[in-house]
Amino acid sequence: MSEWQGKTALVTGASFGIGEAFARRLAAEGANVIVTARSQDRLAALAEELRARHGVKVSVVVADLAEDSGPETILRATEGSGQPVDLLINNAGFGVVGDFADLPLAKQQLMIQVNVTALVTLSHLFLQPMLQRRSGAIVHVSSTAAFQGVPYMAAYAATKAFILNFSEGLWAECAAHGVRIQALCPGATATNFQQVAGTAPLRDHSKMQTPEEVVAASLQGLAQNQSVVVSGLANQAMVFAERFVPRQFVTRAAARLYQPFSTRTNAAK
Ligand SMILES: NC(=O)c1ccc[n+]([C@@H]2O[C@H](COP(=O)([O-])OP(=O)(O)OC[C@H]3O[C@@H](n4cnc5c(N)ncnc54)[C@H](OP(=O)(O)O)[C@@H]3O)[C@@H](O)[C@H]2O)c1
Repeated sequence: MSEWQGKTALVTGASFGIGEAFARRLAAEGANVIVTARSQDRLAALAEELRARHGVKVSVVVADLAEDSGPETILRATEGSGQPVDLLINNAGFGVVGDFADLPLAKQQLMIQVNVTALVTLSHLFLQPMLQRRSGAIVHVSSTAAFQGVPYMAAYAATKAFILNFSEGLWAECAAHGVRIQALCPGATATNFQQVAGTAPLRDHSKMQTPEEVVAASLQGLAQNQSVVVSGLANQAMVFAERFVPRQFVTRAAARLYQPFSTRTNAAK
């Protein structure tokens, strides 16, 4: 029997990709699920399907995490309405590609708001009741981009490095109090991410992990209270090997990969 059967899981960014896969997997394991994102129609359709297929409770909370009020809206509709959350999947996020200096600052600030500020706020809001109950778990979706600077996705990679570092600190803080924290670090995964970030021309979905594989690695890691889960053997090997190579070498290799998205460098050629 799954440890999540009969428990309540809240998944942010559940309308697509990795978040949707978390919602589907947890509902299949018998968890009641709260799905949140901006796309109301997709969330409503997902909720209806999961209720019919698995007989679990599924609630929809529409919230924009780029708005300061987003996390509070989610809290009010869940813990605040007497629905305790046992598992929080802090997954919503997006990336942007291009030269940092040329990308609109507002877009990058919005990304920092969703990827970092909203994630930290949600963690703070939901961790307190978990600590009081001395049970619960939070998964923060980071990325393999967290392990090195990524030229032309510099601000995105920095948001993910923040999440990794933040999660590791919280993991140790909370371990003695019955709450598990995980930084989930997927590599390239076949979702809408590439389309939204603008990296789609570089990335072949057929060579990527599936969101279902990423979710399976996360839940397995959670069962073992792993603070950091890098999904997929190739990604694990890459992250491991990077420890033995000078950081500038790794950063230059990443630069070669993303340079096609540099309008500035390509214009200068
Ligand atoms: N796919 C990859 O290669 C990859 C690799 C490493 C890490 N990740 C991370 O995995 C997480 C999930 O991404 P994904 O790959 O599943 O991408 P995705 O398919 O584009 O899904 C992103 C999810 O985030 C939600 N979201 C975006 N902006 C939001 C906002 N302002 N307010 C509320 N929700 C918002 C989207 O919902 P709405 O548009 O409906 O709001 C959607 O459900 C992200 O944190 C991403 O950084 C992805």
